[in-house]
Amino acid sequence: MAKNSATFVCQSCGAVYNRWKGKCEACGGWNTVVEETGGAHPMAGPVATRPSRAKGRIFPLEGLTGEIKEAPRTAAGMPELDRVTGGGFVKGSVILIGGDPGIGKSTLLMQASAALAKGGHRVAYISGEEAVAQVRLRAERLGLADAPVELAAETNVEDIIATLSQGRPPALAVIDSIQTMWTETVESAPGTVTQVRGSAQALIRFAKTSGTAVILVGHVTKDGQIAGPRVVEHMVDAVVSFEGDQGHHFRILRAVKNRFGPTDEIGVFEMSDKGLREVSNPSALFLAGRDLAAPGTAVFAGMEGTRPLLVEIQALVAPSPLGTPRRAVVGWDSNRLAMVVAVLEAHAGLRLGMHDIYLNVAGGLRITEPAADLAAAAALVSSLSGSPLSSDAVYFGEIGLSGSIRPVAQAPARLKEAAKLGFTRAVSPSSRDKADQPGLSVGSIGHITDMVANIAAG
Ligand code: TYD
Ligand code: MG
Repeated sequence: MAKNSATFVCQSCGAVYNRWKGKCEACGGWNTVVEETGGAHPMAGPVATRPSRAKGRIFPLEGLTGEIKEAPRTAAGMPELDRVTGGGFVKGSVILIGGDPGIGKSTLLMQASAALAKGGHRVAYISGEEAVAQVRLRAERLGLADAPVELAAETNVEDIIATLSQGRPPALAVIDSIQTMWTETVESAPGTVTQVRGSAQALIRFAKTSGTAVILVGHVTKDGQIAGPRVVEHMVDAVVSFEGDQGHHFRILRAVKNRFGPTDEIGVFEMSDKGLREVSNPSALFLAGRDLAAPGTAVFAGMEGTRPLLVEIQALVAPSPLGTPRRAVVGWDSNRLAMVVAVLEAHAGLRLGMHDIYLNVAGGLRITEPAADLAAAAALVSSLSGSPLSSDAVYFGEIGLSGSIRPVAQAPARLKEAAKLGFTRAVSPSSRDKADQPGLSVGSIGHITDMVANIAAG
């Protein structure tokens, strides 16, 4: 290992070079390569503090089943948060939580810390960004000032680990944020990729040896990536993102990666003056304020993980003054919109080529399911024709390139949610496993032309 020789590290993706480059060859970022001198680069040699020599022990796979059952978890007692982690924080696991500044990460984690501490667990909240007084002030605002959470304003990882190692290991330690931490084993400045990676590594090792669940807060760059090395994402057990729009008060916690639980569950919160409030019935929230008589809106009966979620899809189709009409999508995949538009043109005879098309998922939610195709198509047709869809109908179904409507998973759960919220009609692909919901009639359709004909008929 070339000791104290300079390395050049891309601050965006963590790629290492032996000389400066204007453009990172790995991620294509400009001016992201920065000189970081000396120190033990994690990729270049052994790290100073190694755990004791347990290496090389081999375990038979089949013999383990008796010893290891479910991973032991500590539930926060906040159902929306526990749903995303998969039932609570797993002992010794490390979670990275990312989100825009000001979205409410510190608020969420303070609430979770207080909930655990009140349940008799040892919880430490380490802030590298705010003074202890500021953290306490927030806790006071949240009505949590009496929770026995241990607070510290500290940025040196060795000091933090020394403090946490005194007494019984904490059930949970929150590090807010990983970008402010620095470790003595690395000589680079705090905030550089090498420091972030070195600090994360030390904290992960602490988690694994002590059994403490560690949460690392990570900042997000303008393009939505967790800033610093992507490698931290690979090092941790779970990556969750806290999303939302500054203009709306709801916030969505979404697991991006989870070694100990599902990745398709979301937790829904609402930001209030008393902190984050859990939303146990998100469909009602996302449908609130719906304009029932307006053309171009359709209610989509979607699923987020195991939970059905009704959301409004809004479309605006208008003649375009431009040579190349505009297509803008918020909350859905623009490729899927292009496909739905192409199918409507090719198989239902709609002329959309000279129209601007805007599609929006109300409430700032992001939908990834192909099952939203039918609702999006219904909203588009309704906007183009100027006739509102019936306000008591929900839509779901995937549209194939031939215009056929294909069945989607979990139809009974979607129908049940629609009936629960007072909808009386569902437009969906024909499928055998329809649950009978009182008060809900299901209009099964097999082809996109059926839907267009239905809307035209009113
Ligand atoms: P914060 O948790 O500090 O965000 P992050 O850690 O993700 O940067 O939350 C900051 C925002 O939340 C701030 O704009 C104020 C707002 N907020 C409330 O609306 N109500 C509250 O009770 C609290 C504590 C914060
Ligand atoms: Mg914060």
